Amino acid sequence: MNVVEVTGLTVRYAGATALEGVDLHVGEAELVALIGANGAGKSTLVKALSGLVRPAAGRVTVHGRLAQVPEGREMFGDLSVDDNLRLGGWRNGRHGRDTAGIYRVLPELAGLRRRRAGTLSGGEQQMVAIGRALMARPDVLVIDELSLGLAPLAVANLVGHLRALHADRGLAVLLIEQNARLALELCHRAYVLEAGRIVLHGDAGRLAGDTRVTAAYLGGHVSTEGPAR
Ligand SMILES: Nc1ncnc2c1ncn2[C@@H]1O[C@H](COP(=O)(O)OP(=O)(O)O)[C@@H](O)[C@H]1O
Ligand SMILES: [Mg+2]
Repeated sequence: MNVVEVTGLTVRYAGATALEGVDLHVGEAELVALIGANGAGKSTLVKALSGLVRPAAGRVTVHGRLAQVPEGREMFGDLSVDDNLRLGGWRNGRHGRDTAGIYRVLPELAGLRRRRAGTLSGGEQQMVAIGRALMARPDVLVIDELSLGLAPLAVANLVGHLRALHADRGLAVLLIEQNARLALELCHRAYVLEAGRIVLHGDAGRLAGDTRVTAAYLGGHVSTEGPAR
């Protein structure tokens, strides 16, 4: 069964079309990338998945729990790391706000738990944002711009955690990325969004070798170590 199913999704802002007839799905425990340039409509899709924007047409269906890591991470900078994490568990009731499980899967956060989130590096904040989303115990995690503005080492570390969460817990991920190389290395399948429409989709390995993708998004040769399976 698919955890996310999007059919014919059209979203307009005050008459301007941000998404037009988008079909997309994420299977159980699948790693799927959505690649696209600035303004393509990626964040609009994320908002439609979380019900924050209303479709003008089409349908979004989520089976199971979906949690999102929003673009720009949206930390509460004056709150501690631990409090930021706890906010992710607000739907779970009292027991659901226990953060110990998050420090087990993201041990780097344990030493930072009392730090104010606003004092952390971008990579650390992104890890907090992922941990906060994991507090909702999602079946599928939607990450809007994982790598934006982060140092390569921080990105590699986050990718390692995502691979482990996928391998150990069967977490499905919809990864929104402008860095196509990163997205195609991590994910099984990918969609390319241009001006609100899906223009290409398929197996990540095949897209990495597609001249339309290499010309527009990869700027030359790609070498991949292959997606996590
Ligand atoms: N709240 C909004 N009101 C009007 N237009 C918007 C709004 N949010 C986004 N847009 C427009 O919709 C298009 C898609 O934006 P967005 O989904 O943020 O793209 P991306 O995340 O791929 O950069 C852009 O042209 C953007 O200017
Ligand atoms: Mg965006």
